[in-house]
Amino acid sequence: MEKNITLLPGDGIGPEIVDETVKLFDAVANKFGHKFNYNSHLIGGIAIDEVGDPLPEETLGACLEADAILMGAVGGPKWDDPTAKVRPEQGLLRIRKELAVFANIRPVKVFDALAHASPLRPEIVTGVDIVFVRELTGGIYFGTPRGREERDGQRVGYDTMIYSESEIERILRIGFELARGRRKKLTSVDKANVLTTMQVWREIAHEVKNDYPDVEYEDILVDAMAMYLVNNPKDFDVVVTGNMFGDILSDEASMITGSLGMLPSASMGKAGSVGLFEPSHGSAPDIAGTGKANPLATMMSGAMLMRLNLGLEAEADAIEKAIDDVLAAGYRTADIGGGDDSLSTTAMGDKVIEMLEKAD
Ligand code: IPM
Ligand code: MG
Repeated sequence: MEKNITLLPGDGIGPEIVDETVKLFDAVANKFGHKFNYNSHLIGGIAIDEVGDPLPEETLGACLEADAILMGAVGGPKWDDPTAKVRPEQGLLRIRKELAVFANIRPVKVFDALAHASPLRPEIVTGVDIVFVRELTGGIYFGTPRGREERDGQRVGYDTMIYSESEIERILRIGFELARGRRKKLTSVDKANVLTTMQVWREIAHEVKNDYPDVEYEDILVDAMAMYLVNNPKDFDVVVTGNMFGDILSDEASMITGSLGMLPSASMGKAGSVGLFEPSHGSAPDIAGTGKANPLATMMSGAMLMRLNLGLEAEADAIEKAIDDVLAAGYRTADIGGGDDSLSTTAMGDKVIEMLEKAD
């Protein structure tokens, strides 16, 4: 199989972790007899610096033509003035919107070998296997009106949280379908006790659930969910929620696994359209260039890219198994408790490839 993969390395550690994943893709191509062609494009802060736009037209065009897209991360202190007119994050939000990847899938899985790397007790985190489904192209991130102005001599800022019936229905269906293929439990997280948007969310969710009588369903308020994630994360299978709640809860949930460096993500649109695959973590500018970045979240996102976008199931399994094997063998980067024996970004990449090549 020959496929074209667009790379968007972005800022900070983005280029380093994307490089390792490309090395891994080449090893996969070698092992399974595929050919992957890559083209790399600007996004985020580096795109602002070079062409004045966090999502240049040329980048968007390459993405729309690609068979799959692998992204690193965007942002950094250099572009961090929150009142600046152009910000790296705008590139990320725009590409999500332009590609219409409304479903952001973030698996939170605790590797047995890493249960001790979590700040939570091993008996709480061992066996945790949750899939977050975060709505990605709507809600308060994109709602209008939004703006800042002066009212009664004071500066005010405002945003709008809004969800339509069709947006809610399609994301709930993704959640139910995923749950069907897993432990058959779906948790919908809202704030229906306060927000009108979320009352509509819950109403639609209850209508959709009638189509999935085989899936156990529950509603949980977002504040309570923040608590349950810490005291009983094993209770959850698939969790579906809106854009902002999903942003916050997925960072919280990453700590169950010990490090944001272990959290992949896939953003999917309509069936058959190109998806966007990126680690859930940011650009970690503080460690960029030091060789300390953990490439595993990006490599796992690469596995999701193989499975969900290219239909390469065995290849995805092989990547995930290689990562499992590397961790089981005790190899660690600094963020997951490597201590004095921590592997560098490239050394970790090499280990995963070594395991992949070794496996039969
Ligand atoms: C994420 C990030 C982004 C978001 C930022 C960088 C705009 O936090 O992907 O979770 O808020 O969606
Ligand atoms: Mg986030």
